[in-house]
Amino acid sequence: MTTSTPSKIVLITGATAGIGRTTALHLAALGHHVIATGRRADQLAALRAEALAKQVPGRLDVTALDVTSLSSIDAAVVEVNRLTAGHGVDVLVNNAGFGLLGPMSEISDAELRRQFDTNVFGLMSVTRAFLPAMRARRAGRIINVSSIGGRITLPYFGAYNGTKYAVESFSDALRYELRPFGIDVVLIEPGAIKTSFGDTAMSSIGAYADTVYGPAMDKAEQMRTRMESTAGSPETIARGIARAIKRRRPAARYVLPRFNRAVFVLQALLPQRAWDWSMRRLGYLTPAVLEPAARPAPVPVPVPVPDRAPRAQA
Ligand SMILES: NC(=O)c1ccc[n+]([C@@H]2O[C@H](COP(=O)([O-])OP(=O)(O)OC[C@H]3O[C@@H](n4cnc5c(N)ncnc54)[C@H](OP(=O)(O)O)[C@@H]3O)[C@@H](O)[C@H]2O)c1
Repeated sequence: MTTSTPSKIVLITGATAGIGRTTALHLAALGHHVIATGRRADQLAALRAEALAKQVPGRLDVTALDVTSLSSIDAAVVEVNRLTAGHGVDVLVNNAGFGLLGPMSEISDAELRRQFDTNVFGLMSVTRAFLPAMRARRAGRIINVSSIGGRITLPYFGAYNGTKYAVESFSDALRYELRPFGIDVVLIEPGAIKTSFGDTAMSSIGAYADTVYGPAMDKAEQMRTRMESTAGSPETIARGIARAIKRRRPAARYVLPRFNRAVFVLQALLPQRAWDWSMRRLGYLTPAVLEPAARPAPVPVPVPVPDRAPRAQA
């Protein structure tokens, strides 16, 4: 660790991989005091070792935090108070999250709840835990990593998109309600980003092989290739988060990479039927793909059998 004065004390959830990990290193490299949190102790240790090896000018501490466990959140609050001599965090980056691909009509309640537990209820529990110190200081910033999928819905991403729509709405309400206490709430809306998010999302599709969507699920890899053809880097998001921390009056939303804003324009311009058609094409939701499973096998038409032999011709 180096001795330069940290600019802000920033806690990041889900810093064991992807966007969270990259953001932790980036912010520490900018001189912030980062508290990188996550579930996997080995990955947190590796992250801390990397920050030390790179001699980042900021400080990078790590602590365990599973956003779905209230006892884990409580323990993290105690640890943060220790690490910051009672100050608490200046900036909370709610990044932990995941998505599972699955047709909306087939996904189980348990899987739905699991995604909401992490992406929505976990985010809110962590926010509530670190908010009192910010409110007491009349200063702070909460940065919620949402998605462009918090404003548009993709086929098979209904459950995940639902969690991000909730994050968008909750963040809007928090932004109105916390501003009088000097606390800003910012949404980061990434498009497709190269992380392990895609592998996690794909890990669920086997469960739907025997459903009417099986033939479309067989094409999930092609779907993924299409969706990820314009994928950005986690560094783009890390830089965006750094800007959202630095700005005196941050924007309510940052779409990253910026070109992804085109999708909102497209959705606004296209008639609903045309939009739906393009979403069905993206998800291989066409009769040509689904027909073999979607249509019942033809019932054989019984051939009438004469009940007695025809009379011999005279
Ligand atoms: N990549 C994209 O295309 C994309 C696009 C839009 C939005 N996002 C959002 O960006 C955020 C980060 O995703 P990513 O792309 O970086 O994916 P990732 O590489 O899979 O990383 C997800 C991180 O979230 C953590 N996490 C999951 N459940 C957790 C829990 N209960 N408690 C604490 N940490 C937990 C994971 O921890 P473990 O290592 O323990 O699993 C991991 O560190 C997510 O909110 C995601 O929805 C991603």
